[in-house]
Amino acid sequence: MAVERTLSIIKPDACEGNHTGAINAMFEKAGLRIVAQKRLHLTKAQAGKFYEVHSERGFYDELCEFMSRSPVVVQVLEGESAVAKNRDVMGATNPEEAAEGTIRKTFAKSIGENSVHGSDSAENAAIEIAYFFAGYEIVG
Ligand code: CMP
Repeated sequence: MAVERTLSIIKPDACEGNHTGAINAMFEKAGLRIVAQKRLHLTKAQAGKFYEVHSERGFYDELCEFMSRSPVVVQVLEGESAVAKNRDVMGATNPEEAAEGTIRKTFAKSIGENSVHGSDSAENAAIEIAYFFAGYEIVG
C-alpha cells in the first residue's frame, strides 16, 4: 500500500455545528494524519471554481451557495491509501445511505449539507490540494 494525500473539506454545516474537532478525531482514529489545515470563508466564485466539474448539474447553484454560506476547514490528509480510507470514514454522499459510525451518518443533515468533502481519486486529490495549498503549507 502506498502513502497518499487527499483533500478534505469540513463543510459549513459541520463548522456551524462546532464539529471540526470531533471530525478531526475520527480522521486521526482511522490513521489519517492532518498535514495541512486552514479555516476559510469561500466566496461563491471560489466554491464554483472548485466544483466546476458539477457545473451542469441541477444542484450546482445550491451547492455553491451552501459552500460559501459560512466558513469551511480545508485540510490535507496523509496516510496509507488515504483517498479510499477518507471515503470510508466519510461514508456515502447521501447520509441516509451512510454506514453507522461514519462522519456523514453522525453529523450530516442531507445530501446537500453532508458535512465533508473528500477527493475521489489520487489524480483529483493532487488537483484539489493545489487549489487550496502551496507546497510550503503542507508539513508531513
Ligand atoms: P461532495 O463530495 O462535496 O461532491 C459534490 C457535492 O455535491 C456532494 O458532496 C454533495 O454535497 C452535493 N450533491 C450531490 N448530489 C446532490 C443533490 N442531489 N442535491 C444537492 N447536492 C448534491
